[in-house]
Amino acid sequence: MEKRVILDRPPAAEADAGHARAPRPLRFAARTGWDLSGNSLASVLAEARGAGRALVDFTESNPTRCGIVEAAHLIAPLGEPRGERYAPLPLGDPAARAAVSRYYQERGLDVDPSSVVLTASTSEAYGWLLKLLAERGDDVLVPVPSYPLLEYLACLEDVALTPYPLLREEGWRIDLGALERAAGERTRAVVLVHPNNPTGSFVRRDDAAALEACARERGLALIVDEVFGDYAHGDLAPDRLPSFAGARQALTFVLSGLSKVMALPQLKLGWIAVSGPPELAAAALERLEVIADTYLSVGTPVQLALPEILASRAPVQRAILSRVQANLAALDAAIAARAGGAVRRLPIDGGWYATLEVPRVHDEDGWVELLVRDEGIIVHPGYFFDMPRDGFLVVGLLLDPDVFAEAALRLVGRIARAISGE
Ligand SMILES: Cc1ncc(COP(=O)(O)O)c(C=O)c1O
Repeated sequence: MEKRVILDRPPAAEADAGHARAPRPLRFAARTGWDLSGNSLASVLAEARGAGRALVDFTESNPTRCGIVEAAHLIAPLGEPRGERYAPLPLGDPAARAAVSRYYQERGLDVDPSSVVLTASTSEAYGWLLKLLAERGDDVLVPVPSYPLLEYLACLEDVALTPYPLLREEGWRIDLGALERAAGERTRAVVLVHPNNPTGSFVRRDDAAALEACARERGLALIVDEVFGDYAHGDLAPDRLPSFAGARQALTFVLSGLSKVMALPQLKLGWIAVSGPPELAAAALERLEVIADTYLSVGTPVQLALPEILASRAPVQRAILSRVQANLAALDAAIAARAGGAVRRLPIDGGWYATLEVPRVHDEDGWVELLVRDEGIIVHPGYFFDMPRDGFLVVGLLLDPDVFAEAALRLVGRIARAISGE
């Protein structure tokens, strides 16, 4: 007689009792249990938009909406006929990986094509690196203040974030002592955003060296997000490190991509440049290849077009830098003309954002609401980036310069008037 495998199942109580079984409710994973109800700022904004008010949005960070570069010719290479065929390679097309290596070499940085991994975005690169490095419940150290997406990226990989402070009074220098104290048994990596968003600060060379030594000693990897690395404002001070690409001391992953390097986020192409002690870097690449093979997420046309696209970056970056610097100058001029000492712009080394220190007569939500209601101006509250205390607002620097300059005067003027109780 044929043997049958009887699966061991718990008794179905309802069925045994002769009742129809109640449908089992569907459950979503707890990691997606976000509070999706809008906050008070969202409703102030919705109200202003609903009333058809013309708003000036200083939080605009999408370069394709700011009229800075004409993208049509930049994306023309996507029409390359070889893109009609699908021939996937997990780490990416060799010519595309070589183009990324050239991008670094042209900046004097030694990145071998074989150590480049293509991804669909920097955000995806973070996800892959957390899969590579961390078990569920492990943690990675992240700078505070910094870019808020990290919280979601880590949550989706069941990884915890442990903050380490950047010291505002010291030009947002890394608090190395606090970082070392924050690193525990289950810490796997240190994240750096370099230059940081929104503080615009590059890491000091001596801090970078100390951090690499600390990472090596404690078995930590460095994950360095350099998406804004090409946007130093003028010559970088000699004590600042331009890039971690090619760093050899500790296992290092430098992330970047077309969304900022070319202001083309819609192309969905990023990369990881892996370096460090050779055995570790090789092992990491082997494992990353399997992760990449599981997704094969980078489109063929954009990979084939990458060498030509990256070769046209100089005028794009010049246009962006000149926009950002013109707006920064307009912001400073507005502060000089209207602030009466009430508003201070924090110094920055680079990037697309500026941070304003404002009086604490309102909390940050109060300022944001006041500016939307009275001036039709949208800014980020500092807490969005985990600023160390209340009293900061963050503005993007990509808007059309005429719009920016006019609105900056109103922004600063409104804050100054609020001091006198208006
Ligand atoms: C610091 C930083 N890293 C990464 C990203 C995301 O880049 P990507 O479009 O490549 O995912 C952003 C987007 O604004 C960013 O500000």
